[in-house]
Amino acid sequence: YPHRFCTREYFFTYQWLGIAAAGGPEKPGCASPPLSRRQQDLCEQKPELMPAIREGARLGLQECRSQFRHERWDCRSPPAARRGTAALGQQLSSGTKETAFVSAVTAAGLVHSVTRSCSAGNMTECSCDVTLRHGGSASEGWHWGGCSDDIHYGMSFSRKFLDAPLKNVTGRSGSGLVAMNLHNNEAGRQAVAKLMSVDCRCHGVSGSCAVKTCWKTMSSFEKIGRFLKEKYENSIQISDRLKKKLRRKEKSQRKIPIGKEDLLYVNKSPNYCVEDQKLGIPGTQGRECNRTSQGPEGCNLLCCGRGYNTHVVRHVERCECKFVWCCYVRCRRCETMTDVHTCK
Ligand SMILES: *[C@@H]1O[C@H](CO)[C@@H](O)[C@H](O)[C@H]1NC(C)=O
Ligand SMILES: *[C@@H]1O[C@H](CO)[C@@H](O)[C@H](O)[C@H]1NC(C)=O
Ligand SMILES: *[C@@H]1O[C@H](CO)[C@@H](O)[C@H](O)[C@H]1NC(C)=O
Repeated sequence: YPHRFCTREYFFTYQWLGIAAAGGPEKPGCASPPLSRRQQDLCEQKPELMPAIREGARLGLQECRSQFRHERWDCRSPPAARRGTAALGQQLSSGTKETAFVSAVTAAGLVHSVTRSCSAGNMTECSCDVTLRHGGSASEGWHWGGCSDDIHYGMSFSRKFLDAPLKNVTGRSGSGLVAMNLHNNEAGRQAVAKLMSVDCRCHGVSGSCAVKTCWKTMSSFEKIGRFLKEKYENSIQISDRLKKKLRRKEKSQRKIPIGKEDLLYVNKSPNYCVEDQKLGIPGTQGRECNRTSQGPEGCNLLCCGRGYNTHVVRHVERCECKFVWCCYVRCRRCETMTDVHTCK
């Protein structure tokens, strides 16, 4: 099974995500365990980046959970293992397309959070994109102004922080996995770059918009997540045996180039139906499903044909509120009953 590829170094490439775990110390030093030796060194050189690193991990994982909330694999670890990061690391070292998504979305999260930190003026090495100052087009009635996000520093930091440790993993076994990871990290960063957009604000007499000030801005992270989810759905299986460069597994398609924004995987995914502690798979037992939906969140698909339990949940809320002169609001208490279905 995929784990035969797993090396110690490889396993640790995901450990840094543990930094996002809730309940950790408020201000951990760089020596906090989830970071690899090299990442700790990077952090010590720039301790002011620590909040952005933590935020990047949080952003990436939160978006992963949101994009996958209706699917059998919901970007979580089994309850018993949830406190540690080991289980997540285990799932992630299996080289599946779920791994690909997590690599991409967390590499993108790091770019996003570091760039935000640059634009907020929190960093000495980077700031707003100053090359755009004074530019624009007077004849078309707009000019650059405000703070344009400059993603260069964030891109290069994300590369140093996430890719460099992987490049040190040598040996034949797992080389396809490592190449896959490097590619998917970069695909995530490229998504942030590709989805940069321009925002403008109007000035002029009574909002006439005679003059506009415009600035470049990163897309919301939710939009980046949606983009990457689409890439996940169209991800490409590659051969684990490298011949100088990445190759598609499907021989008949090898002529079709692999784009830098494509997500790649080496191993087919398990079905994620039943819990497997060893592989860090939580299974779908106890997940809430939708009885009428034909989609992935429908009870049929989500529960893998095992059926579901139904219980009635009572909601009490304030309702029929009326404003009473003067000055308060009077409401009634309403009870509603809803059926909730959970997988057996
Ligand atoms: C910038 O630094 C301030 C003060 O340390 C902090 O409150 C804020 O969250 C930081 N903003 C970003 C985007 O990092
Ligand atoms: C790679 O590994 C060697 C020895 O294990 C170490 O000295 C070096 O700093 C590592 N390089 C990176 C980029 O992690
Ligand atoms: C369940 O799925 C149906 C059909 O897709 C949808 O109309 C409904 O809002 C869903 N119910 C819940 C509770 O999400």
